[in-house]
Amino acid sequence: MNEPNNKGRDHFSSRFAVIAAVAGSAIGLGNIWRFPYVAGENGGGAFLIIYLLFVLAIGIPVMTSEFIIGRAGQKNPYGSFRKLAPGKPWYLIGLMGVAAAFMILAFYTTVSGWTLEYFYQTLTGSLAGKSDSELTMMFDDFLMGSFRPVIWFIVFMGFTAFIILSGVKKGIERYTKMLMPVLFLLLIALCIRSVTLDGAGEGLSFLFSPDFSKITPKVILEALGQAFFSLSIGMGTLITYGSYISKSEDLGFSALSVGIADTLVAVIAGVAIFPAVFALGGSPASGTGLVFIVLPGVFQKMPFGEIFQLLFFLLLSVAALTSTISVLEVIVAYLVEELSMTRKKATIAATLMVSVLGIVTVLSMGSLRSFLIFGKNIFGLLEFLTSNVMLPLGGLFIVIFIGWFFSPQLTKAELTNEGRLKAGYFPVYMFIVRFVAPLAIAMVFLYSLGIIRF
Ligand code: PHE
Repeated sequence: MNEPNNKGRDHFSSRFAVIAAVAGSAIGLGNIWRFPYVAGENGGGAFLIIYLLFVLAIGIPVMTSEFIIGRAGQKNPYGSFRKLAPGKPWYLIGLMGVAAAFMILAFYTTVSGWTLEYFYQTLTGSLAGKSDSELTMMFDDFLMGSFRPVIWFIVFMGFTAFIILSGVKKGIERYTKMLMPVLFLLLIALCIRSVTLDGAGEGLSFLFSPDFSKITPKVILEALGQAFFSLSIGMGTLITYGSYISKSEDLGFSALSVGIADTLVAVIAGVAIFPAVFALGGSPASGTGLVFIVLPGVFQKMPFGEIFQLLFFLLLSVAALTSTISVLEVIVAYLVEELSMTRKKATIAATLMVSVLGIVTVLSMGSLRSFLIFGKNIFGLLEFLTSNVMLPLGGLFIVIFIGWFFSPQLTKAELTNEGRLKAGYFPVYMFIVRFVAPLAIAMVFLYSLGIIRF
């Protein structure tokens, strides 16, 4: 069974490269922009505890399962399911993943564009000396203006496409290995800055002292969605990256390390942001603008604030880029392997298609702001549908596939690298993917729809 690495296929060249690429995908705006704002809107500490539980009991096992499917299938998510379950409809999960990739890129690249704008504004000094209400107005004006956000969207899509064009080793691997460690250091520096502000304590207790009365079905669904979104799971990104992991890497160890790193970064981002929010008298429930409105205000009140601010938005852009490439790669791998396109054609086609949906999404925060579906603008709808519905649903089917359909011998062979590793956790892992994870995801869905109550 231990076939050598598929010859025509690029693979990550070392353990560090695997961890950097997967962590690069996982760690991004989801941790630094989305985690604080969603936690802020959903009660802080209580949200954090549920989130941590979901990462451990569902997230890391789903991630491991995606690696298994990708490395055993040696193809994009659609192709891997077709290969592992010929003639069965499991490949639909792969197709849902490709659809989710379009939708995620549309709103994710929108926010990535905002980070470029704020980087640029910091460089030109235009945020300096602004009051909190002026900063709120600037953010709103920027979105309403529509033209600049569209331009930044296109620029960011361009960067993403450029890296993807260069392929797995020369593109994804080279950039993530270089950029991820820098990002980590920058975040630690910011964190130290923030907790030493006057009045930081209130922010820390918002994040770390749970108020369980704040737990509602919505909070639980948001925590599940955030766990999936932040770990990049449920849509085949990690099936795709799994197919680039060489046969000698330890899949369980990789999933655990990335799961821990991703969670750490989210918590560190929370520690960097909430003390600052409270010290400034802002509200943790300020929505999507949280880091863009509140933080520039804080930076101004710090010595060397401009420098920290510049680093921060650079960090956010970099973190976003190592994530957008992993989402675009899902579509490109699909087009290359299933529709026999060249990598170049596939990248261009995917980028153009994403850009159409993306520009509409950008405008939905600006001139199309009043166009609502189910009370949400397109941006909000895409964000909700992907993180809270499609990713958990994909994850549900992925664990059911591994737990109940795929052969346990092959699963074990993947986790132990054909018996060369111990993988003593195997029985626990199987128990989780068979029972714990599917039941937990299904219950959160039913609970949030109001079908069951506790
Ligand atoms: N996990 C990424 C982040 O937190 C976003 C992402 C979601 C990437 C789904 C790939 C797939 O920023």
